[in-house]
Amino acid sequence: MSPATHLEVTQPRLLHRSGGLRCEGASWRRRSVFVKTRESHAPHTVRRFWQEGEIASRLCHPLVVPLLARTPTQLVYPWIEGRTLRDLLQEGPLSPDEATSVAWGVLEALAYLHDEGITHHDLKPENVMLEGGRAEAGAVRLIDFGMSHLQDLPDGAEHLAMGTPHFMAPEQFGGVRGDPRSDLYSVGALLFDCVAGEPPHKDALAWLLGRPQPAPQLPGPAALHTFFGRTLQRDPARRTAEIRELQACLNRARALLNLPQLSLPDVLGQPGDALTSLWD
Ligand SMILES: Nc1ncnc2c1ncn2[C@@H]1O[C@H](COP(=O)(O)OP(=O)(O)OP(=O)(O)O)[C@@H](O)[C@H]1O
Ligand SMILES: [Mg+2]
Repeated sequence: MSPATHLEVTQPRLLHRSGGLRCEGASWRRRSVFVKTRESHAPHTVRRFWQEGEIASRLCHPLVVPLLARTPTQLVYPWIEGRTLRDLLQEGPLSPDEATSVAWGVLEALAYLHDEGITHHDLKPENVMLEGGRAEAGAVRLIDFGMSHLQDLPDGAEHLAMGTPHFMAPEQFGGVRGDPRSDLYSVGALLFDCVAGEPPHKDALAWLLGRPQPAPQLPGPAALHTFFGRTLQRDPARRTAEIRELQACLNRARALLNLPQLSLPDVLGQPGDALTSLWD
């Protein structure tokens, strides 16, 4: 990782600004990059930005975007040529084939994160990039570790309800940090959004606050409903905690729908293929 205090990027183009951060596409060392720059000195922003860099700097997995370089005010990631899952969903819901494939890839990325002691805590279609805009497991590139929690690292956000209401597990809303089962709830909400075109609860805050809500009408073919039942439980103890079991559940649904089974070698293609654009 570069020891520089400021990295000179060229050809910056502003993507967006929010929460004291500026996001740009740019060029760095003759490669296309995505740069997040911290503009605020507010203690919470400084802390979260440092935490994002600390967590992102440990990542090395083909379905997770790695960090290339960091300074106290800059995080530099490889530019992903593609679209976010949210961009894709603007055009309408995905087919069960596409939706289960993307969810399978997200689970694969999560299995890696959770093994590393990381809980993402902000899984949503905006934070899933798809290389080449393809709705496929092997195209998944997980981004945005701005809310993530790393075991053994002082968190600084204990008891804070950080996340995005429509995709946030109820215990996360209650301030629980670092429970990997919260991410599994979010995958359930993400698959729901992919199939239905909207997340499970219209009034997400009311659901999170425990106010009586009509049970959501489960979307898509019945073969997918077991997965929703295993992830979208209010009580984390009632969710399936094993990611491999959730992937198997998606594959059972795919079998019922006459869709091919997903496996890691198939998803990643020939060794190195999925890595080329990230690691060259
Ligand atoms: N590596 C990348 N390559 C290309 N585009 C990216 C990359 N990383 C992020 N983006 C785009 O920039 C957006 C914002 O990135 P990110 O989610 O990391 O920042 P953020 O400040 O946390 O934003 P938000 O508050 O909207 O979540 C993403 O939704 C995506 O559209
Ligand atoms: Mg984001």
